[in-house]
Amino acid sequence: MECTRKEFLAALAAGFASLGLAGISSAAGTTPVPATAGKKRIKEIQVEWLGHGSFKFVSRGGKVILLDPWISTNPKTPSRYRSFEHFGKVDLLLFTHGHVDHFMLPDVKKLVALYDPDIIAPWELDFFIKSEIPQARCMTFQLANVGATYNYHGIDISMVNAVHSSGAQLTGFTGTNKYMGRPVGYVLTFENSLTIYHSGDTALMSDMQLVIGDYYKPDLAILPIGNVFTMGPREAAYACKMIRPSFVIPEHYGTFPALEQTADSFVKYLKTSSPQTQPLVMTPGKPILV
Ligand SMILES: [Fe+2]
Repeated sequence: MECTRKEFLAALAAGFASLGLAGISSAAGTTPVPATAGKKRIKEIQVEWLGHGSFKFVSRGGKVILLDPWISTNPKTPSRYRSFEHFGKVDLLLFTHGHVDHFMLPDVKKLVALYDPDIIAPWELDFFIKSEIPQARCMTFQLANVGATYNYHGIDISMVNAVHSSGAQLTGFTGTNKYMGRPVGYVLTFENSLTIYHSGDTALMSDMQLVIGDYYKPDLAILPIGNVFTMGPREAAYACKMIRPSFVIPEHYGTFPALEQTADSFVKYLKTSSPQTQPLVMTPGKPILV
């Protein structure tokens, strides 16, 4: 008996569903359901913006994590941290890529000398750090490339893709680039299951929907909005539609004149692209609990 085209498509759809593939069509669909919408802030993890792409996290267990700490020449470094001693303690440094506004070698040397932290960075940058700072406690054989996850004292740290570049300039915005491998982002799942995605410097990319949104399901996304070097405000707002976090912190803006100066247009675009996501517009040096 011949079947009609309509019957064939219905049978095909039923076959996909029985194979557990129905989620693929929903992942690529136009009306994604927020993975974490409506979630309340647990208020146990401290998040502090240190200006530009730099962040400080304090875990439930008191671990102090600095991500891309650009301190000495960052115009937005909170004044108290100009003296590196004011961090008090630093347990872990995370680096996303080699650009000088994320990895400044003299700053890293100071932090290592003061706090002897563990260090997680992409493979090539990791080796560069070890060559320049032999005593650095690089976790090269725990976590060193995209796709991998390491449990750091109860915090799952996953290294994920970023679409960007990663040459290092080391001390300033002049000089020759050094090859530092690929750029990355991080997903941090804290002891209380709160999951934070810091994208690092990146363009809008399909991983945000299929890997970050569908698989890691972060509660909070930290995304660049500054344009010129990364996503701009419109792309970052669309990224929230793909990632579906309950909260988003805009970053990598307002640092110097080339970048977007405020988060206003990002917040405006967010209302259209991902109205379920609440923007948390931060001031450097004023920590919040999430
Ligand atoms: Fe960069």
